[in-house]
This record gives sequence, structure tokens and C-alpha cells, in this order.
Amino acid sequence: MEVTRARTEAAQKTGSASPEAVQTAENRLPGRHERPGRVIALLNQKGGAGKTTLATHLAGELAMAGNRVTLLDADPQGSALDWAQRRLQNGQERLYGVFGLARDSLHQEAPQIALEADYLVIDGPPRVAALARSALLAADLVLIPVQPSAYDVWASQRW
Ligand SMILES: Nc1ncnc2c1ncn2[C@@H]1O[C@H](COP(=O)(O)OP(=O)(O)OP(=O)(O)O)[C@@H](O)[C@H]1O
Ligand SMILES: [Mg+2]
Repeated sequence: MEVTRARTEAAQKTGSASPEAVQTAENRLPGRHERPGRVIALLNQKGGAGKTTLATHLAGELAMAGNRVTLLDADPQGSALDWAQRRLQNGQERLYGVFGLARDSLHQEAPQIALEADYLVIDGPPRVAALARSALLAADLVLIPVQPSAYDVWASQRW
């Protein structure tokens, strides 16, 4: 409930349609689901914390459990996109779609994309505050991976 309210307020502040408004409009179209999928963001401004590793594995587990999953690569480095491309080149099974959206308008696009999936997993960027903020606004659930070192724990406390 709190998350929904926060997303609605954020949408109002940024001038975008609220998730509820988007949902209502989309429900008029045939073949669309009633509710958007759950948005899970992997975020930590510290580099190398394990965001991409966990995002790709979490998306894989959710897909293998029978869910429709989309992974959004919100990191300009495009590591998740590289990973997906490498899998395709190696002829490995495609469990879910991976799309690059490293823009700070991500939170305005996410509700629409989530209508097509049960889970929308966002692989967040390191050190790009505006992008990370946008992913935070888009998310129903934020997971903050932390490597077991003092430097990583200190950096993660800034959230
Ligand atoms: N659970 C884990 N246990 C051990 N090593 C891990 C784990 N998760 C990630 N790593 C390793 O840590 C390194 C960084 O992981 P990853 O690229 O996923 O981090 P990241 O937060 O996405 O980095 P960046 O901020 O650069 O995008 C990689 O070498 C990866 O193999
Ligand atoms: Mg990464």
C-alpha cells in the first residue's frame, strides 16, 4: 500500500500517468492482464556488489518457476545485455527477454512494461544517481546486494 502510494505520488510529481491510470487505460485493450507484474530492482551505488549476477539469476529462477519475466538493464555498461547476447550466441535457452533502458525516465516506462510480465527485474547501475533514483521509484521491491567487506557495508548505508 505504501509503495503504491509512493509510486502514485512520484508519478504525479514527474507528470507521468499514475500506475493506476496506466493500468485502467491498458485494461481496455484486449489481451492485457488486469494487474502489472511485480517490479524488483537490484540496486547499490557501489560497483561490483552483485547486482547483475543476482538480477540475471533471480530472473532465471522466476522464469523457470513458470512466470513471464522481463529483465530491464538500467546500467549504461549493459552487462546484462552482454550476458543475454552471449547466451544466444552459445545457443543457450532464452528464458526471458532482456531490454536496455538506462534512462532516468525508467520509472515512467516501467508500469507499461510490467503489464506484459509477472515480474519485471531491474538491474541497476553503479554511481548514476538519477538512474538509480528512477529505478527506485519504479520498484515494488528493492534488493540491495552487499559484498561482505567493510567498504561495501559503509557504501550501502548511504541508501
Ligand atoms: N553471490 C556471489 N558470490 C560470489 N561472487 C559473486 C556473487 N555475486 C556476484 N559475484 C561476483 O562479483 C563480481 C561483481 O558482480 P556483478 O557484476 O554482478 O556486480 P554489479 O553490482 O552488477 O557490478 P557493477 O556495479 O559493475 O554493475 C563478479 O565477478 C561476480 O562474479
Ligand atoms: Mg552490473
